[in-house]
Amino acid sequence: MLGRFFNHQKETQAVDVKTDVPVHVAVIMDGNGRWALKRGLPRNIGHREGMKTIHSITESANDIGVQVLTLFAFSSENWLRPKTEIDFILRLPERFLSSELPKLQANNVQVRVMGAVEDLPSHTKKAVETVMHETADNDGIILNLALNYGGRSDIVQALKLLGSDIEQGRCQIEDITEDMISDKLYTSDFPDPDLLIRTSGEIRLSNFMLWQMAYSEFWFTDVLWPDFSTEDFAEAISVFQQRKRRYGGV
Ligand code: IPE
Ligand code: IPE
Ligand code: MG
Repeated sequence: MLGRFFNHQKETQAVDVKTDVPVHVAVIMDGNGRWALKRGLPRNIGHREGMKTIHSITESANDIGVQVLTLFAFSSENWLRPKTEIDFILRLPERFLSSELPKLQANNVQVRVMGAVEDLPSHTKKAVETVMHETADNDGIILNLALNYGGRSDIVQALKLLGSDIEQGRCQIEDITEDMISDKLYTSDFPDPDLLIRTSGEIRLSNFMLWQMAYSEFWFTDVLWPDFSTEDFAEAISVFQQRKRRYGGV
């Protein structure tokens, strides 16, 4: 894990200590399609609107002092959608790059991407590589976009890396620890999410960060992602701050 983060989990292990600002917030941005359908519009318009929310929530998270904001943008199961919708979603990183890059720079945001990026179309890959490269030296909030991401496949790719270490004699099976698995996940640079937000009223994980959410606090809202406001985000943070995290203690 990078030295730049506070290890919130360790700092807040004492019982009854009110947690402060979450270091890492993860969001399942859901409800774009329903937002559009409610207005008699094509689903893709919902995805376009949802991109505006990404901008406002990143700014808000930055202002609040969140250090990592991970957004679920495209899951490894979203390939099941109609091709026209997939194509539209996978063009969004290019739009994001052209419309958001100056603002990301001005706000000192570092963009990262996690998931099976190698399987994305080359135009999507190019856009995400460019935005990561252009923002690599920024040391403000990390905007971590989960693209072609699945929690189970994250664990599978981690186990393959670990298996290769064993095969090469770099470690022994009996020496495997939880930290060694965490260090092979896409999120190896970040602390586990303190808070998970899911919009649109669905109460499930949909294969998001399964390993990493062992002790995350969950907050759900019926608000659809394109309508999700900075006030809604502030409410989630405030609810988080009332929670008592016990990590199995009393
Ligand atoms: C979330 O919105 C965005 C992606 C999954 C890419 P949806 O497209 O899932 O919207 P609903 O859930 O159908 O309303
Ligand atoms: C989860 O939302 C994936 C993203 C937000 C990118 P989905 O809309 O794909 O999840 P399900 O299908 O309702 O579980
Ligand atoms: Mg959905």
